[in-house]
Amino acid sequence: MWEDRYSSDDRYLFGTEPAHVLRENPWIANGASTALCVADGEGRNSVSLARQGLDVTSFDLSPTAIGRANDLATTAGVSIDASVSQWDEWDWSRRFDLTVAIFVQYTGPDQRPQQFADLRSATKPGGRLMLHGFTLQQIEYGTGGPPVAENMYTEEMLADAFGDWNILRLAAYDRIQDSGNAHVGRAALIDLVAERPA
Ligand SMILES: C[S@@+](CC[C@H](N)C(=O)[O-])C[C@H]1O[C@@H](n2cnc3c(N)ncnc32)[C@H](O)[C@@H]1O
Repeated sequence: MWEDRYSSDDRYLFGTEPAHVLRENPWIANGASTALCVADGEGRNSVSLARQGLDVTSFDLSPTAIGRANDLATTAGVSIDASVSQWDEWDWSRRFDLTVAIFVQYTGPDQRPQQFADLRSATKPGGRLMLHGFTLQQIEYGTGGPPVAENMYTEEMLADAFGDWNILRLAAYDRIQDSGNAHVGRAALIDLVAERPA
């Protein structure tokens, strides 16, 4: 579905600027040298982190998206190590200072524990995880994301899943998004930034 969506459109679906959460919270990458951007799409977030000087690895299942991510990096004068990979085929034993998961809510409650376990595994002890997505209110707004209530996050869910880490930010809020053609208008968002114990 995603490859079809990307390849039938010659634009950057979510734009070329990073997600607002990265733009507005540059401190998230403080102290990090390496980052993994999972399901990174067309590279807006990985390229932004590379521009901040991080050594960035990324993957996505869509070859078209990964091609565009590499083009975006070239235009920005940086390089990223971007691979075509299914989530389940990624080597989750590789560890990074910062793991970035932005809008990865294609999984429901059955697969979510494994998805969160993979994100935990990719984050070095002492490193940080940044998870950003939608809350339930987003179903009503309909301005992006899957229209599936059970895939949405709550603060309680994320506090439970990462309560054994040091939570640096956990916030649910509304904001107007203007990201490409896909995320436009009022959105119900949630951010988690958590540090894995050293
Ligand atoms: C909503 S987009 C977000 C893209 C990017 N994180 C961003 O914020 O611009 C979701 C991305 O997840 C990718 N994706 C979905 N299922 C995946 C899977 N099983 N393995 C790898 N990538 C996947 C899609 O190809 C798509 O690029």
